[in-house]
Amino acid sequence: MWTLITGASSGIGRALALELGQQGHDLMLSGRDKGRLTAVAEAIREQSPGCQVEILPADLSDPASTRELAARIGEEVERLNAFIYCAGIGEPAPDFASLELIDFQEALAVNVSAPLLLCQQLLPLMRGGDTASRIVMIGAGMDKQAQPGTGSYGISKMALRRLVRQMAVEFDTMADGPVVSLFQPGLVDTPGIRRHIAKAENLDLPHARWLAGRLEAGECLTAEQAASALAFTLRQVPDSDFHGAVFNGRDLVDSLSFAAS
Ligand SMILES: NC(=O)c1ccc[n+]([C@@H]2O[C@H](COP(=O)([O-])OP(=O)(O)OC[C@H]3O[C@@H](n4cnc5c(N)ncnc54)[C@H](OP(=O)(O)O)[C@@H]3O)[C@@H](O)[C@H]2O)c1
Repeated sequence: MWTLITGASSGIGRALALELGQQGHDLMLSGRDKGRLTAVAEAIREQSPGCQVEILPADLSDPASTRELAARIGEEVERLNAFIYCAGIGEPAPDFASLELIDFQEALAVNVSAPLLLCQQLLPLMRGGDTASRIVMIGAGMDKQAQPGTGSYGISKMALRRLVRQMAVEFDTMADGPVVSLFQPGLVDTPGIRRHIAKAENLDLPHARWLAGRLEAGECLTAEQAASALAFTLRQVPDSDFHGAVFNGRDLVDSLSFAAS
């Protein structure tokens, strides 16, 4: 059961790779940083010796690198059972007038264009099969909650949400298409969010103080909790409830803890 995870070198993607390795998935892990990807792969091999793990470094802000990634996956496997797009970026800007076009374009490239391109290129590997292949895109609550300085991130995540809707209706026109959903993690303590908060605090943006306060108070998920909730949607939710759905990480963690108690 081959599963591709982008953004596997850090945060939620890294935790998901470790979790799915334990659950018997064979993994293709992508990110830019080869050293960190190698460390994740080694940790998975140690923890789950039966698991096949490949690392595929790529820069998803670059369409050529993204196409090359898809081509390499096509050379490695005949079928992709699951694809989780965890890579994500979004530089804060001091104010609307100083939002840099290059940051905006990079956010659109990594958060919208690359997942679109990868889904297009990988579609032949995700059609047919005894069970439908599953695609999960990682959204963000910031898509609907506009805050000063968060334009690149929020606008690109809103476009990603719409991309998921688009793919859902497009896949409905195929008899043998994959199923797709959006996973909104909520606030998760990761290297990425800590970097974002530090930059936003330097710019004195109001959302930084709010996010930092919530992290400080422990009012957030760990990367492992977010990964478990995501793995639950991937492995346990039936196709009819999964396809086109928007899952909320915080709600899932709460309801799964309640169910287990
Ligand atoms: N943490 C939160 O509170 C939170 C909340 C809502 C949504 N999210 C979303 O959850 C996802 C994971 O976030 P995280 O908090 O785990 O962040 P993270 O720790 O910064 O991890 C982000 C991952 O994206 C990869 N990435 C970034 N730019 C890339 C590029 N140009 N090409 C290839 N890979 C790239 C990074 O890999 P390299 O550094 O190796 O390139 C890294 O593995 C993101 O989509 C984020 O928007 C997070």
